[in-house]
Amino acid sequence: MKKITKAVIPAAGLGTRFLPITKAVPKPMLSVLDKPTIQYIVEELESVDIKDVLIVVSPGSDVIKKHFGAAEELEKRLLSDGKTELYEIAMATRKFNVSFVEQKVANGLAGAILCAEDFVKGEPFALLLGDELLYAEKGETPCIKRLAEVYGKTGKTTLAAMEVFGDDLSKYGNMGVKTEKDGIIYVDRIVEKPSVNDALSNYAIIGRYIIGAEVMDMLKTLTPRNNEIYLTDAFDILAARGDLVASGFEGKRYDVGDKAGYVKANIEFALKSEETREEIAGFIKELAAKL
Ligand code: UTP
Repeated sequence: MKKITKAVIPAAGLGTRFLPITKAVPKPMLSVLDKPTIQYIVEELESVDIKDVLIVVSPGSDVIKKHFGAAEELEKRLLSDGKTELYEIAMATRKFNVSFVEQKVANGLAGAILCAEDFVKGEPFALLLGDELLYAEKGETPCIKRLAEVYGKTGKTTLAAMEVFGDDLSKYGNMGVKTEKDGIIYVDRIVEKPSVNDALSNYAIIGRYIIGAEVMDMLKTLTPRNNEIYLTDAFDILAARGDLVASGFEGKRYDVGDKAGYVKANIEFALKSEETREEIAGFIKELAAKL
């Protein structure tokens, strides 16, 4: 099976759930502790050795481009001050070949993916949504790596499946399961944000995928609903003909495009960081005692 060498990160949404900050700051630039979300996402690609990354940005998202570009003054200063550790942090964004394309009108996720057509050149690619943070502990397999392995075995478009229960089911795309074998879920139907009663299983679709080469052309043939083309419509067609699989994953997922998810991610990362752990743990205990 051909190795996946390209990744697409859609980061051009309007971020209406996170106004007013998203008026001027694109959601993927919101910082979790000291790093913008989008940098964590790009770093996930180290686990699958993907270097070529396309970020789909909205017009005027210069701050994302700046983050991945050179900062000559800063880098010179860090080097001359002997702050090599900080210099390496500044360089961390530069080991990937990051390019950008503008999505002129925010007409949905499928619209963002179509902007990547010239970049993917008919090849399968990794798709990572710019507002979800996936975190694997040492010894765990990162989600995108697991998906690439499943794609390698099956050659089929591969989704990440997260188990959710109750009312939360209606927040996500949902999968119908034909069979499950060796950790691979064979999907036979997709429904978009079902009510609890209409859900096909407890498996929700989250923002990590390996997208097969055929999907780009499929998106062009789909009929828009509410003026939008839905990626899940393409998945449903693939599912019906037995060409869609999914897998669970190790580690945690944070929806940083949602206020509560964003705060949770910051708390968790502050507790992971040696620099802040003690102080924040004490602070949380103090607060919790008063709840
Ligand atoms: P969301 O569904 O979270 O939409 O997008 P959104 O516009 O970013 O945020 P809300 O719901 O209005 O608060 C999921 C992912 O798809 C990207 C977003 O940047 C995010 O990473 N996206 C969405 C695009 O790139 N273009 C779009 O037109 C829509």
